[in-house]
Amino acid sequence: MGSDTMHPRVDAIVREARAAVLAARTAADLEQIRVRFLGRQGALTQLLRSLGTLSPEERPRVGAAANEAKRELEQLLEARQAEAVEAERRAQRERERPDLTLPGRRPPAGAVHPLTRVQDEIVEIFAGLGFSVAEGPEIETDYYNFEALNFPVDHPARDMQDTFFLPGALLLRTHTSPVQIRTMQAERPPVRVICPGRVYRRDADITHSPMFNQVEGLAVDRQTSMADLKATLELFAREMFGARSRIRFRPSFFPFTEPSAEVDVLCFLCGGEGCRVCKQSGWLEILGSGMVHPGVLRNVGYDPEEVIGWAFGMGIERIAMLKYGIDDIRLFFENDVRFLRQFA
Ligand code: DAH
Repeated sequence: MGSDTMHPRVDAIVREARAAVLAARTAADLEQIRVRFLGRQGALTQLLRSLGTLSPEERPRVGAAANEAKRELEQLLEARQAEAVEAERRAQRERERPDLTLPGRRPPAGAVHPLTRVQDEIVEIFAGLGFSVAEGPEIETDYYNFEALNFPVDHPARDMQDTFFLPGALLLRTHTSPVQIRTMQAERPPVRVICPGRVYRRDADITHSPMFNQVEGLAVDRQTSMADLKATLELFAREMFGARSRIRFRPSFFPFTEPSAEVDVLCFLCGGEGCRVCKQSGWLEILGSGMVHPGVLRNVGYDPEEVIGWAFGMGIERIAMLKYGIDDIRLFFENDVRFLRQFA
């Protein structure tokens, strides 16, 4: 809109429009200006429409000037409109640009489940002593779970109260001891196995779960003794609970071992002084063990005159509860991340 000498009325409109365009901030402002001057009711449009009321001499001059002004205003608006859109896009990109100075977000890292951790630790300790891992089925027969292990027919463990029986003379194993039988059937001595796995019993309270985990150990050779069993478990306790850990054997009974012993570890919380966790006794019971019963050896085709063996079994949940001071077994199975995260 170069000259201001087109026509006084046209000049006035052009000045106003130019000032408005100059003041416009956004594409929306510019659109409003377009409507105000070039729209159906717009100032310039009105002027062009009213040309007929002018004198024949004035008409061509005003008409030419108004048309010229209209074209120029259109061009100006178009150019500014494009600039405004580009500026808005730029501002948006700026707003959305990632701030590279912000600290990164850590991807959530999982943690090994405390039971897996304790199990791995136990297996690792015995692997270092030359034991290899053996596994067996969780669904067992009466033979492997009881009979081959020397359980008498009227043993309470064989009762509906304690064992989950399945159709077809099957059951959910109540301990990992049947893996002893399966291993000895498959291998000739010397045997040294460590057998972790799930076991099932009809029992549920804050220290018992119908499904829990055990680790079984078995060693059979031409020559070994209860002293080897004790030394092995003492070494295990020191690795598991610390160098100052000690164990003691208490006479006990299991159908598949003779003699049998329950093994306690010196309470690692009070060091034997007596506390809430060890119930003031200074000792914590951690496993059952004994010399493999000659009848069990015979059941797998071993000659008890030729070979001798010892075995032990422990509950992983119990050891994890003692180790980490967990007082409710159900916490292991609820998978509440607030609980699990503490073992990360
Ligand atoms: N099977 C026993 C239980 O579930 C634990 C056990 C005791 C395993 C003595 C053994 C053993 O191998 O010798 O309570």
